Amino acid sequence: MAIDYSELIPNNVNLADNRRLQRALEEWQPKFLDWWKEMGPEGYQEADVYLRTATSVDAQGWAQFGRVKMPDYRWGIFLAEQDRERVISHGEHKGQPAWQEVPGEYRAVLRRLIVTQGDTEPASVEQQRLLGQTCPSLYDLRNLFQVNVEEGRHLWAMVYLLHAHFGRDGREEAEELLQRHSGDTDKPRILGAFNEKTPDWLSFFFFTYFTDRDGKYQLASLAESAFDPLSRTCRFMLTEEAHHMFVGDTGIARVVQRTCDLMREHRTDDVGPHGGVSLALLQKYLNFHFSVSLDLFGSEVSSNAATYYTAGIKGRFEETKKDDDHLLKDAAYPVAQLRDGGIVMADMPALNAMNERLRDDYVTDCARGLVRWNQVIKRAGIEFEFRLPHRAFHRQIGNFAGAQVSPDGQVMDAAAWAARAADWLPTDEDRAFVIGLMRPVTEPGKFAGWIAPPARGINNQAVNFEYVRFA
Ligand SMILES: [Fe+2]
Ligand SMILES: [Fe+2]
Repeated sequence: MAIDYSELIPNNVNLADNRRLQRALEEWQPKFLDWWKEMGPEGYQEADVYLRTATSVDAQGWAQFGRVKMPDYRWGIFLAEQDRERVISHGEHKGQPAWQEVPGEYRAVLRRLIVTQGDTEPASVEQQRLLGQTCPSLYDLRNLFQVNVEEGRHLWAMVYLLHAHFGRDGREEAEELLQRHSGDTDKPRILGAFNEKTPDWLSFFFFTYFTDRDGKYQLASLAESAFDPLSRTCRFMLTEEAHHMFVGDTGIARVVQRTCDLMREHRTDDVGPHGGVSLALLQKYLNFHFSVSLDLFGSEVSSNAATYYTAGIKGRFEETKKDDDHLLKDAAYPVAQLRDGGIVMADMPALNAMNERLRDDYVTDCARGLVRWNQVIKRAGIEFEFRLPHRAFHRQIGNFAGAQVSPDGQVMDAAAWAARAADWLPTDEDRAFVIGLMRPVTEPGKFAGWIAPPARGINNQAVNFEYVRFA
């Protein structure tokens, strides 16, 4: 179904047919806008930004591009097309029709999952709100704002579900999604990684590569949900998420390209004095962002995860493509754990190992970007390879929380680990250096000295197109 933009809240869910719901969401809308103006991109609310807006939810050509002031962006409610034949793909209700309403017994669990997902969306906008002031180019600035408005729309997606299916509790949760703030001491965001700062563009690119990719896997597991409105919402969100990961993937590749150019030009690995980020320092940022994103998947062995799967609330990545009984009652899954001062694999009940299985799919996906970045280095004739650190490195949650493990998977004592930490993770000095590189470049077609231009512009526009026009 096409999206109706003549309404106050653009949607493809026939909102006009449900006056109560429409009124409730129209009451929430100005509060969202207040939040956006206060907590969204600072200093750019009046700028004209070349943004894409969804025009329909089918796979071909859903976007339209044009200049928009961000507060005028048409945030709305877009669900993937309903498949009326859809049946539950897994768990004890397998084969039954997908739920169009929330079953009473799963109400609390579903609400919590939706709130937790919803909370990350505005959190990332808050984390990134100051980045515009140090953009490396107008092209990058536009990409940042595209990510930001779409994370705002993802909040709308979750708020719609809360309002439409969870009554008064849902409306209260929707209010609180605007009241918690990233890093707030009294009312922080729910998940740890979303209370960290995104202080510079290097962090932003690694965040969109690693942490938005966590989002992709969470959404993919919720897209398998028996609760059909949640599944349809997540399926459309995934199409938007792809661009966020593209921003990270190509952003890092461009930094690597620039670093290699500087290394060759100045015949040194140490490109810092020449205004670049050394490959060794990039590896440290990679180690940091990968490890904190791994934590977002939760404990390796989890009875909650088993409950979600058996109830049909969350599936595996690409559940319907898997060739097994989709019940997994007696199945096992190998999970890494600490034993006798080393790391061993041990079989666990597959149902309890759902988080770890999703994390495994995620790690495989993460590794693909490294192959592309390593090709950039290789093409430059430089000997260096990025590596994903061992999954036990620098973890705060699960089997390896608090353990001292090196990036190549050696279990160490605390003193030995601490002595090497500065080689593995960005130090305060490293972070200060990177922040020092961040000076705004806002002339069309110009780029900061630490990052190469992109191969092509957005939507077939030239690289020197004026992607953001200031008020
Ligand atoms: Fe999102
Ligand atoms: Fe995202």
